Amino acid sequence: MSTRLPDTYFDEIYAGDDDPWQLSTRWYEQRKYGITLAMLPNPRYRHAFEPGCSIGTLTELLAQRCDHVTAVDVAEAALRGAGMRLRQAGCRDRVTLSRASVDAAWPAGPFDLLVLSEVAYYLEADHLAQVLERECARLQPDANVVAAHWRHPVADYPLSGDAAHEVIAATPGLTALGRYRDRDVVVEVFDTGDGRSVAAREDVPGAR
Ligand SMILES: C[S@@+](CC[C@H](N)C(=O)[O-])C[C@H]1O[C@@H](n2cnc3c(N)ncnc32)[C@H](O)[C@@H]1O
Repeated sequence: MSTRLPDTYFDEIYAGDDDPWQLSTRWYEQRKYGITLAMLPNPRYRHAFEPGCSIGTLTELLAQRCDHVTAVDVAEAALRGAGMRLRQAGCRDRVTLSRASVDAAWPAGPFDLLVLSEVAYYLEADHLAQVLERECARLQPDANVVAAHWRHPVADYPLSGDAAHEVIAATPGLTALGRYRDRDVVVEVFDTGDGRSVAAREDVPGAR
């Protein structure tokens, strides 16, 4: 039995369209990126890992918050688009791009931020759980994980967005920090540390 949607599924999608989800033009996506980035507890990160980067729309924004971003995708066409976008944005030298699947061994990092944006639901639940248990254990202590997924059903996908988030939230070592959810999207943030709030970390009076 296959454990994830095949790479050819995505190659075919990109063969007909450079930006099949209209990531670079839709207000829905810009707003979702705004929510995702606003939920990150830290102002800056040293090294983020973003599997399923597509044409680099979120990657470009992550590069503004991170010293370095390592981003992978299974589709060569998407990676070509990401390379062009990041060159135009002037941050290509701070982003490592390569062709890989989220279920392969992750690059060495070490990563203090993991971004799972619209990619977890391409894996079967058991497989996703195994990958996250194996790889999240290698994240930095006090790393953050942010996940964002579409909530409406998509017949081809092994998991719904909500089901993918249940698997992510059950990953050993992750502590939930916050969640945004509307009818379209769920965005959640976790840490691999003590789960203290942003205000508590900054000693804002009254925060525990
Ligand atoms: C909907 S796009 C998401 C793009 C971006 N993460 C965002 O949120 O805007 C999904 C991307 O995931 C890629 N993808 C699908 N399965 C993958 C896998 N197993 N590993 C890595 N990337 C994958 C697809 O090729 C596609 O570019």
